[in-house]
Amino acid sequence: MANENKPIHGVWGSRWVFILAAAGSAVGLGNIWKFPYMTGANGGAAFVMMYLLCIVAVGVPIMVAEVMLGRRGGMSPVNSMLRLARDNGVNSRWAGVGALGALSGFLLLSFYTVIGGWTLFYVWEMVSGALVHASATEVQGAFDGMMANVWLVLGGHTAFMAMTMFVVGCGVIHGIERAVRILMPLLFVLLAVLFGYALTSDGFDDAVRYMFAFDIAKLSGASVLAAVGHSFFTLSIGLGAIMAYGAYMPREVVTRSGQRKPVSIGSTVLAVAALDTLVALVAGMIIFPIVFANGLAPGEGPGLLFVTLPLAFAEMPLGMLFGTLFFVLVVCAAWTSSISIAEPPVAWLVEKGFSRPKAAILIGLLAWTLGIGSALSFNVLSDYTLFGKTFFGLMDFLTINIMLPVGGLLIAIFAGWIMKETQARKELAMKSFGLYMVWRAMVRVFAPLALMLVFAFSLWQALAPAGDAVPAEPVVDEAPVAPQAERPVEGDVPAAAGVPE
Ligand code: TRP
Repeated sequence: MANENKPIHGVWGSRWVFILAAAGSAVGLGNIWKFPYMTGANGGAAFVMMYLLCIVAVGVPIMVAEVMLGRRGGMSPVNSMLRLARDNGVNSRWAGVGALGALSGFLLLSFYTVIGGWTLFYVWEMVSGALVHASATEVQGAFDGMMANVWLVLGGHTAFMAMTMFVVGCGVIHGIERAVRILMPLLFVLLAVLFGYALTSDGFDDAVRYMFAFDIAKLSGASVLAAVGHSFFTLSIGLGAIMAYGAYMPREVVTRSGQRKPVSIGSTVLAVAALDTLVALVAGMIIFPIVFANGLAPGEGPGLLFVTLPLAFAEMPLGMLFGTLFFVLVVCAAWTSSISIAEPPVAWLVEKGFSRPKAAILIGLLAWTLGIGSALSFNVLSDYTLFGKTFFGLMDFLTINIMLPVGGLLIAIFAGWIMKETQARKELAMKSFGLYMVWRAMVRVFAPLALMLVFAFSLWQALAPAGDAVPAEPVVDEAPVAPQAERPVEGDVPAAAGVPE
């Protein structure tokens, strides 16, 4: 292994390209599909507040840690972790953090592209005007019909996987950098247009109130934990995607006046997290006004994006145009995310001697094959369940609720407790010592505690008998519960996290 830290995969053209790529990874189905429906299902503003708190207190510190490990390691997550373990004189099993990430990426990719395929289909539904003036039953029927259509779902999955692997196969600079340089500005323009439209809508005030009128009584233990979990899914942390992107981040940039300037990880990550949060909030402020203006229910669940919203587009003036723009936006967001999920395993194979196109094709084919199980979970295999979950449900649960928190926890522990402090400080290149100390406290103590809590909750949820499952509607907890992230939840919440009943 070479000793100098020059990444073989390439280096982003500038700090801004890293920001675009990382924001491209972070902004995805999590922001536009999951965040609004989770907000709806968890009582609106109470969930939004918790989510913001988690982003700042758990998500950002771990994201900083992950980027730092990546830039220090300079390779795919597996080999970066191996190198860092050796540098710090600890067991090389720490490379397992990278391997776990590559594996979670592989699993996550296999079903992310299935949902990506739905979004492609919805672009078609909007462009073709198939849903114009459709009734609620018809819109619901279109969604059910799509899911029941094996060939359609498989076709979408195949197309989305091919789009993803095409970009990853073209390489970091010629593929990923080029894609995010085009798709991210497009995404922001579309978002601005749709937001402008939402601003003029009748439902805007209701939506703002719904999202920001914080009512502590609506906060439940379950929604706090959902917020922690979602905060690192949405920031793409815990799987090595951001670590891989960090490996391609320049250490120094030359300013216009010709000076060399170190690239600080802290401020860069803050920019990414801010963009991600902004997009989630704006997505909410695009979706909820449409929902409220049409007298629809916000707590629809996963169908919010694919049923509720198309129903609104079916009714409103220029709905075909705005519906198309909206789903193009979702496709761009999901595409730049799936690219980042695929990068760690592909980069690993490249380091093993594969050419990039071959590595991308191989990972793509394998993940595509596994994804067939998820695609069929909505139709022919829908009756086959294990622990009450379909194949898709299991994959989703295993990666998002178990593998990501474990990955995030290990990353925090390595960065906070194992890596030599001098190395960490040098790599971070933070200007303010005070902020550095805040980060260190968060990554050593607060973030691991919060993650262990999420993890315990996930396990409890998995093992609890079906009847005990957390209700979609939050249980109202009368007591103020602000500092809950550190201790098990008590009171009339269904059950304390991590304490099986
Ligand atoms: N953050 C993306 C979203 O919000 C999903 C994603 C991309 C992701 N890369 C990831 C999640 C890495 C976890 C880990 O949709």
